[in-house]
Amino acid sequence: MLHRNSGSDEAPRILGAFNEETPDWLSFFMFTYFTDRDGKYQLGTLKESAFDPLSRTCEFMLKEEAHHMFVGTTGIDRVVERTVALMTEHDTDDVSAHGAISLKTVQKYLNFHYSVSVDLFGSETSTNVANYFTAGLKGRWSEERRKDDHRLTSEAIMVDAITGDGEIGQTEVAALVGLNTDLRQEYISDCQSGVNRWNRILDEAGLPQRLKLPSVAFNRKVGVFAAIQATPDGVVISEDEWNRRQGEWLPTAVDKTFVRSLMQPVHERGKIASWIAPPRQGVNGQPFDYDYVHLR
Ligand SMILES: [Fe+2]
Repeated sequence: MLHRNSGSDEAPRILGAFNEETPDWLSFFMFTYFTDRDGKYQLGTLKESAFDPLSRTCEFMLKEEAHHMFVGTTGIDRVVERTVALMTEHDTDDVSAHGAISLKTVQKYLNFHYSVSVDLFGSETSTNVANYFTAGLKGRWSEERRKDDHRLTSEAIMVDAITGDGEIGQTEVAALVGLNTDLRQEYISDCQSGVNRWNRILDEAGLPQRLKLPSVAFNRKVGVFAAIQATPDGVVISEDEWNRRQGEWLPTAVDKTFVRSLMQPVHERGKIASWIAPPRQGVNGQPFDYDYVHLR
């Protein structure tokens, strides 16, 4: 079990998103925003379990998950705040010369972490999950708010599909086998709330640029869209075009090296790295410039 949990080249973790590297704080914040949020939704289905010890354990773990996600939400807030401040101050989109991360690079990191996290919900349909649901081992997100019979014997759901002419579309299946899709949809609308929040920072600064979630078909390795390539806007493209253009949408080696180069520790009290704004609130209600740490 310990060997399984360790995660290495010989024994990679089963879920792809957990094998991705986290070499800088932007990746870390994106991971905690998007990938920990997957955990929230998986735990949310098990919290509904008729097996009481499992249900209660998940209830507890959800509280811990909320803290992880808070780190991501506020971390990305602070990166965007800093970028926006420099964009406004210097009237430029290219804030890299000022030691910050451009909005374009933030968007690429968002595209990456969101798409690998969307994969974690598995294929669009699953008979295994249908069986777990029917057996009462798991439920849906917010089961108590659902207005149906909670058995799904006659309901239907639209799931992602590739149409006859190779386009991105949807198809109707029995709700019971579409539970992965149901959960992924809940997750996606939750992710959108973070994007809205970061866009408010841009809006309040009077800037027209916006961040956005890429198409659900973008950069997928799991599910029906693994078979195609698509742009963040949801246009199906050829393998060749994908290979040529993916650096426009996903972090390149150059982007990653640049972001990593910004990761310089700042130890002076009241000072902060060039690429991130100070927290809006200090620990325990103290100001940012507070003598938190005494070293002897
Ligand atoms: Fe977590």
